[in-house]
Amino acid sequence: MSALLEKIASSQKAALEAMAQANQAQDLEKARVDFLGAKGQLTELTRAVGTLPPEERPQAGQAANVALKAVKAAHQEAVARLAKAQTQKAALDVTLPGRRRPIGHQHLIGRVMTEICEIFERLGFSVVEGPEVETDYYNFEALNFPADHPSRDMQESLFVGDKLLLRTHTSPVQIRTMEQRKPPVWVVAPGKTYRRDDDITHSPMFHQVEGLVVDEGVTMADLKGVLSAFATSFFSPDTAIRLRPSFFPFTEPSAEVDIACVLCGGKGCRLCKGSGWLELLGSGMVDPALYNFVGYDPKKVSGFAFGLGVDRAAMLKYGLSNIRHLYEGDLRFLEQF
Ligand code: PHE
Repeated sequence: MSALLEKIASSQKAALEAMAQANQAQDLEKARVDFLGAKGQLTELTRAVGTLPPEERPQAGQAANVALKAVKAAHQEAVARLAKAQTQKAALDVTLPGRRRPIGHQHLIGRVMTEICEIFERLGFSVVEGPEVETDYYNFEALNFPADHPSRDMQESLFVGDKLLLRTHTSPVQIRTMEQRKPPVWVVAPGKTYRRDDDITHSPMFHQVEGLVVDEGVTMADLKGVLSAFATSFFSPDTAIRLRPSFFPFTEPSAEVDIACVLCGGKGCRLCKGSGWLELLGSGMVDPALYNFVGYDPKKVSGFAFGLGVDRAAMLKYGLSNIRHLYEGDLRFLEQF
């Protein structure tokens, strides 16, 4: 065997060893340059084949080609091995900070509902609840609705059976509470309510907080005092309220309660349509007719009630223009609160 053939064989062996042993990218690159580079050992040896006597060239040339091919393959293999080790190392990097699990939070409506109830609890009210599927009796009849009242119509309310419907307001909880408790009664009843309504300020499912006070000597001044205390606590300390005559079958007299516009403070703007006031809730003195349904003595007690639209209150407080944002479940919206 010629000396060149021997050199090629030993260079190949050394190159394969160097490639196999390289554990760092720099080591591997150095091995490549040492053996396969323009001035690398194997490159030079291959070039030297041309200096051999013609009869020795074919054998040496073939050996050089085989050696080059093997070393190049070994280099590719080593590159792949190092890359794999790199990703495995990254996957196992125990020093990386942990990933926090996203934690949910209460929906804006739930938060506002809790906040409203807490304000009334500080005023001495306690929280009660009633069912969302109601009977005609609690939703209408015991609340003094006449048989032909439009909201008893299928077109307005969501019926689930004969004389069984999704409550159209939280007022049935007034009756349920009075059936169960004797005066004095100071309660608020938060919950879901349902109507056939659907536009940018009405959702078919919405929320109310009902308030009911029945005690000795309760007057309209108490109603105004309590609701004014609520408005200043929920909106801002200088929020004024006003009462406008209204009608509900279960209160007499009845009043719509407005708050001074949250945007312009009463001067008149786009939100309050120039009036300076925003409608917030329905209220009134409990109609004594209701006491007959629950066995209270109208000569001994009197009371007031109110029904507050939670969605509307939330929209006013947070300046929301479309009620649907509350119910679409878009986290980009919900996470702002
Ligand atoms: N239930 C009435 C409504 O939903 C509001 C209300 C409640 C009015 C209590 C007076 C007293 O519109």
